[in-house]
Amino acid sequence: MSDRRALLLDEVRKFHQDLQPDQPFIPGVTEIWPSGALLDAEDRVALVEAALDMRIAAGPLARRFESEFARKLHRRKAHLTNSGSSANLLAVSALTSDLLEDRQLRPGDEVVTVAAGFPTTVNPILQNGLVPVFVDIDLGTYNTSVERVAAAIGPKTRAIVLAHTLGNPYPAREMAELADAHDLFFVEDNCDAVGSTYDGELTGTFGDLSTVSFYPAHHLTMGEGGCVLTSNLALARIVESLRDWGRDCWCPPGESNTCLKRFKYQLGTLPQGYDHKYIYSHVGYNLKATDLQAALGLTQLAKLDEFTALRRRNWRRLRERLDGVPHLLLPEATENSEPSWFGFAITVDPGAPFSRSELVAFLEDRRIGTRQLFAGNLTRHPAYLNQRYRVVGDLTNSDIVTEQTLWVGVYPALTDEMIDYVGTSILEFVADRG
Ligand SMILES: Cc1ncc(COP(=O)(O)O)c(C=O)c1O
Repeated sequence: MSDRRALLLDEVRKFHQDLQPDQPFIPGVTEIWPSGALLDAEDRVALVEAALDMRIAAGPLARRFESEFARKLHRRKAHLTNSGSSANLLAVSALTSDLLEDRQLRPGDEVVTVAAGFPTTVNPILQNGLVPVFVDIDLGTYNTSVERVAAAIGPKTRAIVLAHTLGNPYPAREMAELADAHDLFFVEDNCDAVGSTYDGELTGTFGDLSTVSFYPAHHLTMGEGGCVLTSNLALARIVESLRDWGRDCWCPPGESNTCLKRFKYQLGTLPQGYDHKYIYSHVGYNLKATDLQAALGLTQLAKLDEFTALRRRNWRRLRERLDGVPHLLLPEATENSEPSWFGFAITVDPGAPFSRSELVAFLEDRRIGTRQLFAGNLTRHPAYLNQRYRVVGDLTNSDIVTEQTLWVGVYPALTDEMIDYVGTSILEFVADRG
């Protein structure tokens, strides 16, 4: 049986190699995606192996991933989820748990965040009946500042939730100090920044909770997937409960009585001895991921440092090529940070002799994929027009981003030739129109 298994996996490796003959890069013909997964033979083998073992639900591989990932990201606990959005939902929902007693967030409490970003960084705030307080960002870094967040803190403010934009860290240490000084929870949406550092430490280690996405565009992939990380064991237990139907019991799936008092609890108004496996301390969800996903996550995780180095190399190469180009604002790393870049943001100067749409059309025509900075100013989208929120200061830069910003890719599968072609194309376009 094990011979047959080894043979099958060997065939999978060969199959992978046959599928991937080295294709030459043809400028203008080969698609240059803005993002994507870099998957190798080991990833394919890991998925098939998990399938051979019928690892179809969350189990030992998910647990192994959680412990390896927590170690890699310098947190005590990691909880795997089915997406980054689910991770954000769990992180914010955890703050509303009544187990937090007087620190519990209640409907109507305010959470400071930015207006320009990804919707599911903000949605959990609304979904929990909390009120987002939007502040603006800076152009160039595309993050907000400690001063803006400080100015937004009022008597009802209870938390700060911020994403590190396109892999570029905001000043996370100072943000954590601000949160501490005002007794606020601090959640880092680290979905776009795994491997980035600020002040010598990994992003995701400054907040009470941090979140990750494993969608293929992100630094590591499981297809779909996400994670909530924390070193606060009380929050970890709440996250786990909310993720796993709201249950009070913490036994891994398929196990029972790890607390050795499964039939000895009396909680709520339930009878004494009610099975702890079926006692619920939260109004929860089921947002678990499967072992199939975790199998891929484990082989991807082994390559995180390599991926980070490639993202940095690609970004630096494009940045150097474009340095000094007129009419375009190029991205800047936040001072004191070393980003693991998600993308390369470019803002077309509002006074430029060309528009963002013209630049985008030119690049897309050359098969160079572009994206906008996610939602731009969220408050301008139909979904948010009638939501309850506050804005502190103005959203001038969020509006500029909505109208003038795009980003191109730097993900690990892009080669020097591709990056150079992207750079040359942008320079040619600007020289032609400028
Ligand atoms: C900053 C940020 N947060 C959250 C998410 C959501 O992740 P997912 O697509 O895995 O739900 C994304 C997705 O790209 C993101 O960029």
